Formats: sequence, C-alpha cells, structure tokens
Amino acid sequence: MRTRSLSPSFCSLLLTVIAAVGALPHRTIKVERDTTGKLVVAHHIIGYTSPYAVSDWESDIQLAYNSGLDGFALNVGSDSWESGQVANAYQAAENLGLDFKLFVSLDMSSLPCTTADDASALRDYVTTYASHPNQLLWDGKVFISTFAGSDCTFGQSSSAAGWQSEFIDQLTGSNAVQFVPSFFVDPSTFTTYDGVMDGYFNWNGGWPIDLTFSSAQSELGSAAGDLDDATFSSSDEAILSANIGVFTTDSQYISGLNSVSGTNKTYIAPVTPWFFTHYSPESFDKNWIYLADYWSYNTRWETLITNRDQVDIVEIITWNDYSESHYIGPIEGSQPDSQDWTNGMPHLGWLAMTNYYATAFRDGSYPSITEDQIYMWARPQPKNAVASDDSVGMPTSYQLTEDKLWAVVFAQSNATVVITTASGTTQTTDVSAGVTKISMPLVAGSGMSATLTRNGQTVVSLDPGSNYTFNANPETYNYNAFVTYATSV
Ligand SMILES: *[C@@H]1O[C@H](CO)[C@@H](O)[C@H](O)[C@H]1NC(C)=O
Ligand SMILES: *[C@@H]1O[C@H](CO)[C@@H](O)[C@H](O)[C@H]1NC(C)=O
Ligand SMILES: *[C@@H]1O[C@H](CO)[C@@H](O)[C@H](O)[C@H]1NC(C)=O
Repeated sequence: MRTRSLSPSFCSLLLTVIAAVGALPHRTIKVERDTTGKLVVAHHIIGYTSPYAVSDWESDIQLAYNSGLDGFALNVGSDSWESGQVANAYQAAENLGLDFKLFVSLDMSSLPCTTADDASALRDYVTTYASHPNQLLWDGKVFISTFAGSDCTFGQSSSAAGWQSEFIDQLTGSNAVQFVPSFFVDPSTFTTYDGVMDGYFNWNGGWPIDLTFSSAQSELGSAAGDLDDATFSSSDEAILSANIGVFTTDSQYISGLNSVSGTNKTYIAPVTPWFFTHYSPESFDKNWIYLADYWSYNTRWETLITNRDQVDIVEIITWNDYSESHYIGPIEGSQPDSQDWTNGMPHLGWLAMTNYYATAFRDGSYPSITEDQIYMWARPQPKNAVASDDSVGMPTSYQLTEDKLWAVVFAQSNATVVITTASGTTQTTDVSAGVTKISMPLVAGSGMSATLTRNGQTVVSLDPGSNYTFNANPETYNYNAFVTYATSV
C-alpha cells in the first residue's frame, strides 16, 4: 500500500518553489511503496545527463517520486562517461532513502554487441547493482531492459544464441536477470527467443506509428483533401482519433509473450505525450511527427488502466528525450541540438497530471480529485505556416495535426470553464466533477488562456501570457507542444 500520496497541488506548489529557487529542495522522506507488480517508471536518457551531479539526480528522483512515479529506466549508450552517471543515479536514490526503483535499459542502437567482450561490458551493469537497495528486482531477479538489440550476436550464430550464452547464462544466483527487451521484432517470431526473453517492452505502442499522410488519406477516403485544412470536421476527427491511445499492438505483443516459456513474464506498455523530431539529413536525418492530438497522453493512460490486468509496468516515454519532444521532466542536462524546438517549451504539466493516472494504474481505481486544475497544450505555429529560415523543411506527416489547443480539466465538482484564444474568441464548457477534455481552434497571432469558475467565483486562472503565441510567421519549424497548467489557490 502506498503510505503517502501527494496531491497535484503539492506538485504545483513544489514546481513554484523550483521556479523560485531554481532547484528542488532536498528533502529526505522514508517511504515504503508496496511493490505489487504494478509499476510506473519513466525512460531516462543517460546520454543527456553529462553535466549532472548526484544532486541533479536527487532532484529528478524526488520530482519523479512526488509525481507518482515508482522508478526510472536508465537508458545507457556507448559514451564512456555514461556508466559514471548510472552510478550517480543509484547513489542519489540511495541518498534520498526513497523506495524508488532503478533498472538499466541497454541502448543497443548505441552499444557495441558483436563480440563476447561487448557482452561482458553489459553484464557489469547487472553485477554492479544486483544488490543495490534501489535496483528493481522482479520475482527476485535483477530487472534489465533494452532499446533494440535483435541484431546483437556477441560472436554467436544468432541474436538469441548471443543473448543466451553471453549474457543470460552467465548471470546466475543473485545476478540472475529478468530480461525484458524492446527488440523491434514481429511478436509472431517471439518463440525464436524462448528462454531468452522474460518479458517485452513495446516501445512504439504509445504512438500510431503506422498512421502516415498517405494511410490517413486512405482512411478518410473522399474527405482526404481535408488534411490540407487547419482544423477538421468532427467526422474526420472521429476517424483520425480512433488511432489514438489504442491497445492494438499491446494485444499482439502480449499474445507473442504468451508463446514463450517463463513463470512470471513482464509486459511493459509505453505511454507517451507527443512526438516531433527535426534533424537534417547531415545530422540525425529525422524529421517527422506522430499524431498525438486528441489528448493522446490521457487517452493512452485510460486505455492502460482499463487493461491493467494485462500490463505489469507502464513506462513513460520519456523523462528527458528532448530530441523527439516527448520529455515530461524539466528541460535540463545537455540538449541534443534540440534547442530550436525545446527552448521555452515546458512539458511539466504532463508530469503534474501523471500522479492521477499512475495511482489509478497501481490501485485499479481513480483517486478522488482534491484540487481544481486546468491543463492546456498546443503547438506554437500553424501546421501550414512556412518557416522563413529552416532548410530541414516541414516534418513528414505534419498534415495529420490540427491547429487546436488540447485542454484537460480536473474538477472537484461542477464548474464552468471558459477558454480564450483571442480577444473576444471564447468557448464556454460546463464541466462535471471529474476529468473533462476540451479542444478549441487556435487563432494566429494570439495566445491561449482559461478560467474555471464556480458559483460566480474564479477558482482557477490560467494564462501563460507572452510565453505562448500561436505564431504564423516562424523562422524555424516547431511542432513541439507548449504545456501550461494552473491549480486552484
Ligand atoms: C511476479 O513478480 C512480481 C514482481 O516481483 C510479483 O509481485 C508477483 O507476485 C510475481 N507473480 C507470481 C505469480 O509469482
Ligand atoms: C453537475 O452537472 C451534471 C451535468 O453536467 C448534472 O447532471 C448534475 O446534476 C450536476 N451536479 C450538480 C451538483 O449540480
Ligand atoms: C513564463 O516563463 C518563465 C520561464 O519559464 C516563467 O518563469 C514565467 O512564470 C512564465 N510566465 C507565465 C505568465 O506563465
């Protein structure tokens, strides 16, 4: 049982404190969370933490813990300094004395894996932390995950043989692993990995990755031309939004897992708020969006809570991947040349709403809402705006998105919400107690603001002011989201 839960307002208070003093207060709270086999963790990219001190890890861990997270998956790549930052993360968790779990997620798109020595280096991440108090154990085994790795052979004849003989079989006793990779392989081929995988992380399951401009045109049929428009008809929205937050690939991977042996397998389902990446062919050569409109983060959480009997761990993608715009943590550490689309684009509102869903996932029922809150997010420029100084060009699939803001209201009891997108352009919604999703078209050259009133009193007032303008004349393309939120005072 969780012995303490923090209200969303505490989180926002905490964030106010952070904003005021520039750093998290260091507090040591001893708390035990019962590990029921239902956990919520966030994927933390070590590669963007080069300037971190142990105290920076303490700040991240305390903030994550206070926001309802149970742990971090530490994504390690090949930079020589990364193992030192993994050590700092474990040290910070121990210093705080929190029941906050850590496990390593081996980034096999970065780490070498052709020789037996390469596997030896990976095993060090298991043996070094196997008995650390903050290491996540699953059924008594050391939990370890991957990003990719289905091409790794470690000198053996196949990937399955390589992982088996060079990694898993050499980790015995207290070093035995619960190996839960994200291999990017067809789940119907999982029997190839029988005896190797103890679970699976369905990395791409939080976005509709197969929904492209051309597949959306097919889905819309005679209305395909509407994709040129700034906003869509409700019938077009019904078709597009049916791709959001679904359990389709989860079911396929769970079925694949059922075909391999194991007594206590782990299915990790991702939840992710957004996706936009914008690197030139000379750089990382990545320039696309996935559709994440229609309150994708909330909708996906609701799906995972509905299907929680089939999901062991929810992994938030991500805490800090600025490169793909799906961070929910603070913008800190080292930026992967993403400043053009991450500067001034906070996402902490998504983190602040996470406690509500994480609690529901763990407990099986939604917690009561104890504070009134408004969350609102939007892209900073019209989908069809032409940037004056951007040689990379518009991102692939930009046509799928709409020029709308997405708002979520948490109300303790019935109230009236008024959203304003330009002087005189307002939308009024009577909301009931609970969570209400609202959207509204944006107005070029203007911002967005909202109030929640009850019995004639303004209870929540949200206005990011000049921090947010929907700019029709941008210099560079930015399809990241600006997230703002406010809590009743
Ligand atoms: C599987 O492991 C989890 C995590 O350690 C544990 O909570 C759960 O009880 C185990 N399930 C079974 C059936 O042993
Ligand atoms: C709250 O609003 C709902 C409809 O939106 C209505 O059915 C209900 O009676 C209202 N409750 C109160 C206490 O006014
Ligand atoms: C604008 O952003 C700055 C920097 O994040 C922040 O300190 C300030 O409170 C924001 N202003 C409003 C009105 O939200």
